[in-house]
Amino acid sequence: MSDVDTPAHAATAQQVLAAPRAPRCLLVTGGAGFIGSSFVRTRLGDPACAARIVNLDLLTYAGNLENLAGSVEEAERAGRYTFVRGDIRDQALVERLIEQHGVDCVVHFAAESHVDRSIHGPRDFIETNVLGTFAILEAIRSRRATGHDVHLHHVSTDEVFGSLGATGFFVETTAYDPRSPYSASKAASDHLVRAYAHTYGLSTTLSNCSNNYGPYQFPEKLIPLMIANCLEGKALPVYGDGQNVRDWLYVDDHAEAVWLVVTRAAPGTSWNVGGRNEMKNLDLLHELIAVVARQAGKDPAALHGLITFVKDRPGHDRRYAIDCGKIERLLGWAPRHDFAGGLEETVRWTLANRAWIDRVRSGAYREWIDRNYATR
Ligand SMILES: NC(=O)c1ccc[n+]([C@@H]2O[C@H](COP(=O)([O-])OP(=O)(O)OC[C@H]3O[C@@H](n4cnc5c(N)ncnc54)[C@H](O)[C@@H]3O)[C@@H](O)[C@H]2O)c1
Repeated sequence: MSDVDTPAHAATAQQVLAAPRAPRCLLVTGGAGFIGSSFVRTRLGDPACAARIVNLDLLTYAGNLENLAGSVEEAERAGRYTFVRGDIRDQALVERLIEQHGVDCVVHFAAESHVDRSIHGPRDFIETNVLGTFAILEAIRSRRATGHDVHLHHVSTDEVFGSLGATGFFVETTAYDPRSPYSASKAASDHLVRAYAHTYGLSTTLSNCSNNYGPYQFPEKLIPLMIANCLEGKALPVYGDGQNVRDWLYVDDHAEAVWLVVTRAAPGTSWNVGGRNEMKNLDLLHELIAVVARQAGKDPAALHGLITFVKDRPGHDRRYAIDCGKIERLLGWAPRHDFAGGLEETVRWTLANRAWIDRVRSGAYREWIDRNYATR
């Protein structure tokens, strides 16, 4: 029985755990992005993980090899890490990489990931998130036809479940109800993954996670944008009344959850991942301002004065909240960071890495990428 149909509270270890999977070579897609780079860093730094890693990333505006600087060079020299600039939509490339490197597991992070961008330009989201996932599935299916099975872990979002009222939580069996082009494209990719598992017998797992935050997050997303604007004395734009609720998880805790699912979960299973940390956007901003003010020696009242309410995002979902009881209970996962600690760490990292933020905000990081990877 596939646990896709099993209520989270009822799933048993027997139904959802596999004999431990120990991949020899991981193809990580989107490993130069925010969460993918955390996954690459944490795996290469984990003495219990011996897998080689091939990082396939197109280096779109959101991909930045500086996210991996200092973390991959040694592994690269040892032949344990390879970066390939390329497009997940290129099925032949994905197939070639799987064959060349003996990939036995794909961990699929690559996506267009920013809801606002999906509202202004949905096409890239359909092409990358839907067609890109389709190409990966086809590549794996084609390898399977030659007798080589490759496991796929697909990284998705809680946004596929839609918007909640004041109460209730998303569980693994909550019906999909995507409401933005971003969440619709992710939902479509989730459906494709499940359909390929069911129809062609591919070995797949899936995780749906709440909002992430932490080091190296592209400063268009709420937390890094607000920190950067506080430091530069710029307006702190808050959508609508600021009462939208999100659940927040420190990025490395998400990366650990993905690894647990990759190594332990039975094919056909899906897992909700969250921080049990619901916050209204405005409350979050107040907490963040307190941390930035203290760490950066700024006047909190002046920072509060920068808060500017702006016209709400069209179709803005009101509340997301994840029930992550299944992964806690059956895989023993627990986040290592509580929100207060994670926020302190994120602000500390930002202050120590102003050059990274400046290069991203000014666009200078693109020049380096284009110079070094123009022909690959
Ligand atoms: N950020 C969050 O809060 C969050 C929460 C839950 C789930 N997710 C999911 O996690 C995954 C990673 O999110 P993120 O925040 O790290 O995203 P990101 O935007 O920071 O990174 C995406 C990465 O994918 C790469 N990429 C984009 N198109 C590509 C293509 N066609 N071929 C190869 N690489 C391509 C980009 O260059 C970039 O490195 C996504 O699938 C997203 O839907 C994100």
